[in-house]
Amino acid sequence: MLERLPATAPLVDPFGRAITYIRVSVTDRCDFRCVYCMSEDMHFLPRRDLLTLEELDRLATAFVARGTRKIRITGGEPLVRRDIMRLFASLSRHLGSGALEELTVTTNASQLARYAGELAQCGVRRINVSLDTLDAAKFRAITRWGDLGKVLDGIEAAQNVGLAIKLNAVALKGVNDDEFPAMVRFAHGRGMDITFIEVMPLGDIDQARIEQYLPLSELQADLARYFTLDEIDYRTGGPARYMRVAETGGRVGFITPLTHNFCESCNRVRITCTGTLYMCLGQDDAADLRAPLRASEADDLLNAAIDRAIARKPKGHDFVIDRMTRRPAVARHMSVTGG
Ligand SMILES: C[S@@+](CC[C@H](N)C(=O)[O-])C[C@H]1O[C@@H](n2cnc3c(N)ncnc32)[C@H](O)[C@@H]1O
Ligand code: SF4
Repeated sequence: MLERLPATAPLVDPFGRAITYIRVSVTDRCDFRCVYCMSEDMHFLPRRDLLTLEELDRLATAFVARGTRKIRITGGEPLVRRDIMRLFASLSRHLGSGALEELTVTTNASQLARYAGELAQCGVRRINVSLDTLDAAKFRAITRWGDLGKVLDGIEAAQNVGLAIKLNAVALKGVNDDEFPAMVRFAHGRGMDITFIEVMPLGDIDQARIEQYLPLSELQADLARYFTLDEIDYRTGGPARYMRVAETGGRVGFITPLTHNFCESCNRVRITCTGTLYMCLGQDDAADLRAPLRASEADDLLNAAIDRAIARKPKGHDFVIDRMTRRPAVARHMSVTGG
């Protein structure tokens, strides 16, 4: 039996890592079907299984009381959840009180033109936008359903209301590997950082991962043919390492879960829209927080469940993508746990 900790005790895992960052997936649904993220024919959770926005707020607030300084709202596509701005508005009180340093979102930007102003009013300052190509036909092929024009409008609207944007692009062999320098120029020309991500083996999709996987060492070598890349010390609290592009003055990030393990400094956990807590993106172990949340109006049971879960946070993930490993490392899709 774990010793019952006070409801304000900071969360520290068995490896001494303070848990100060939660990613909250508010829906597993999405208006895109990106080929590396989802299969075309996805089965989504019945709506009755979802936590309400009030329950999501209560859960996130319990983490804030335990030392969470940063909340990222994600999904699925978070901006397709009905009334999602109510959650941003209510969580913004923790920014006002100083308990929370940052409230942010990862989005595909399809709805961003509509919501950028409200996000800014809720105290959101920086957002991540996922964009894997600048070619409209390729964009349609990657996302299956997406419209590049809407995404670009969303980016412009967000910049117009003062939101800082970081672009995230998944490196896909044979798909966008001819565009990396152009994407860097696009991002830096508009004052945005850009981070490239290796495709991770999460969930069954309609294609073998090995066909998509491009190690970022190759991408970096490609960029080095066009730009001067200087190592820099910049960190955002996430797993990316950054380089400065001398010619543009902008930053390029690299997230390399497969070729470079980033787990030592992990400060985060993930919560799904059904209240399941995943202590690691790359492991199956999880804890149900919905039952303790609903069992009592006080947070004692919830806090006890959180303590038991954090005590099991693993040291790291062990992703592999090779010809021998055809199955995903974990069965759930990224859209369930949130990116
Ligand atoms: C799951 S999405 C959720 C938020 C939002 N729908 C979006 O696309 O930004 C978060 C991030 O995960 C990335 N992603 C999804 N599946 C991935 C995979 N198998 N490997 C690497 N990145 C993945 C996406 O490119 C996106 O940047
Ligand atoms: S990466 Fe984001 S936008 Fe693409 S299918 Fe997954 S959740 Fe949707």
